[in-house]
Amino acid sequence: MATSEPTVDDLAPTLETNVAADEPPADAGEASEETVLHASDLTVYYGTEQALQPVTAALPEREVTAIIGPSGCGKSTFLRCINRMNDQIDGCRVEGKLRFYGKNIYDNDVDPVALRRKIGMVFQKPNPFPKSIYDNVAYGPRIQGCDDDLDATVESALRRAALWEEVSDRLDESALDLSGGQQQRLCIARAIAPDPGVILMDEPASALDPIATTKIEDLIEELAEEYTVVIVTHNMQQAARISDRTMVFLTGGELVEFDRTAKIFAEPEDQRVEDYITGKFG
Ligand SMILES: Nc1ncnc2c1ncn2[C@@H]1O[C@H](COP(=O)(O)OP(=O)(O)OP(=O)(O)O)[C@@H](O)[C@H]1O
Ligand SMILES: [Mg+2]
Repeated sequence: MATSEPTVDDLAPTLETNVAADEPPADAGEASEETVLHASDLTVYYGTEQALQPVTAALPEREVTAIIGPSGCGKSTFLRCINRMNDQIDGCRVEGKLRFYGKNIYDNDVDPVALRRKIGMVFQKPNPFPKSIYDNVAYGPRIQGCDDDLDATVESALRRAALWEEVSDRLDESALDLSGGQQQRLCIARAIAPDPGVILMDEPASALDPIATTKIEDLIEELAEEYTVVIVTHNMQQAARISDRTMVFLTGGELVEFDRTAKIFAEPEDQRVEDYITGKFG
């Protein structure tokens, strides 16, 4: 980890989280009424390699949960479990349970395509379809057969993604002509148009410049009023700024600590987490 990473002391005073560090610890593993996603002993293998040690964690509704940790520690692997994107990887095997509002998404009767409409995903690199701006956003609702009032659905998603003002007079133009930051907000609009409950983001701002990054961060905070957001980030200051809770994975795919973000950055329980955050490890 680069020595320029901020220290705990650098970060703690700048935390803009909703919860003070001295609040009681979150029940990181116990499901409660607010739990949207509940992993229990969720384990992932690629062939014979174990990428994720058993993870037990309860993620609450309408909060931002950040996932941090060194490269290769299983952040994307965990995130992809949440909407069964790992199904598409040959040799990938998931064990344990992941309940979405109480229902194990790995049960045989769960249709992964339908699940992904409820749990949308935004990737590191903006990946709009080579279609018009309008058609990108309308894509999910059309598949769902919800084309009544499609114009209103598209406008609403673009507004929630903070892009409407910039594109309302060019909806028929190609999405590929937008800037990188605009493309990423378009991908967020596309993810929220089918009205999912959960949005997964894998380093959504890492390919963007600082201004576009700030826009995405502001947007994530707004989205959390309506949605549950789970975001992988390499940027610890970003995790501290935008998340309510933080999961720290370390090498070997172990979830070492999961708690309120303010607590993780101010007084982590695990020495390895403190070492990672202060740049001594990872
Ligand atoms: N498709 C795959 N096939 C085989 N092994 C994989 C695959 N994807 C990931 N892995 C392995 O699983 C482990 C976790 O990878 P993962 O991509 O989840 O890490 P990460 O924390 O997201 O890393 P990064 O920060 O670099 O994105 C690594 O050892 C990686 O090599
Ligand atoms: Mg990754």
